[in-house]
Amino acid sequence: MSDDRWAELADRFVDGTYATVKGRVRTRVLHHHLIDHLPPPPAAVLDVGGGAGHQSFPLARAGYEVTLLDPSPAMLGKAEQRRAAEAPEVRARVRLVQARGEDAVQATGGQRFAGVLCHGVLMYVEQPGPLVASLSACAEAGGVVSVMALNAATLAVRPALERRWDDALAAFDARGERGVLGVDTRADTVEELSELLRTHEVDPVGWYGVWLFTDWMDLTDAGPEELSNVEAVELRASRQDPYRRFSRVFHLVGRRRSTG
Ligand SMILES: C[S@@+](CC[C@H](N)C(=O)[O-])C[C@H]1O[C@@H](n2cnc3c(N)ncnc32)[C@H](O)[C@@H]1O
Repeated sequence: MSDDRWAELADRFVDGTYATVKGRVRTRVLHHHLIDHLPPPPAAVLDVGGGAGHQSFPLARAGYEVTLLDPSPAMLGKAEQRRAAEAPEVRARVRLVQARGEDAVQATGGQRFAGVLCHGVLMYVEQPGPLVASLSACAEAGGVVSVMALNAATLAVRPALERRWDDALAAFDARGERGVLGVDTRADTVEELSELLRTHEVDPVGWYGVWLFTDWMDLTDAGPEELSNVEAVELRASRQDPYRRFSRVFHLVGRRRSTG
């Protein structure tokens, strides 16, 4: 792979993953929970590893001041294209910064944010500690830290549903997998990531599943009415046990302590 590891994955991720019902569910379910936790707009939000902006552009449309930070020129190129298609007042609320999440404090000039998002990034870094430390350092006192990570507790689901039984057996004890984009990924648990956040002054306040049913269904023929029903079902599943526990990714939300 080139220096920009995401140059080869950007099309697959942006034009593939997000073009599906599953991609739409991911954005909507996360957005719903984010809005529940964030202060009302306008407030400053940092999207670390924000990619093409699928999660933070809707926040900019809602009135938040968004800084999207990503190390990949290819992903930032996609974000720039998508930003150009937004209304002028939304475009004005989105700033793009090229940097690694681990360097976010320096790259944003020490600004503290009311919300710090990091969705679908932790699975691509070998050690979560430095990135989580940086997320916490960018959050203001009482600020929201929102992380979406690969769920180590459900790694057997995908190989089993794909009838890869040997892989499924091995996955019960695994801490990662060859992900849907074809690269190796690292998985976390809600409990371990919660503990890691606490050591960096962020107290977990809630966690959710992200998608469940749509992960395994072809819904390309679904019309608008079915799509809105799908979203309602997935939103319900995202917050309720045992459903949320079966999601292959989880969404953990914490709040930066006021002292420390
Ligand atoms: C699967 S995409 C997720 C994009 C976006 N957060 C979303 O949810 O749509 C992963 C992103 O993480 C970025 N990334 C990889 N390593 C990173 C790091 N160390 N710090 C910040 N971003 C990173 C990649 O460039 C890519 O844009």
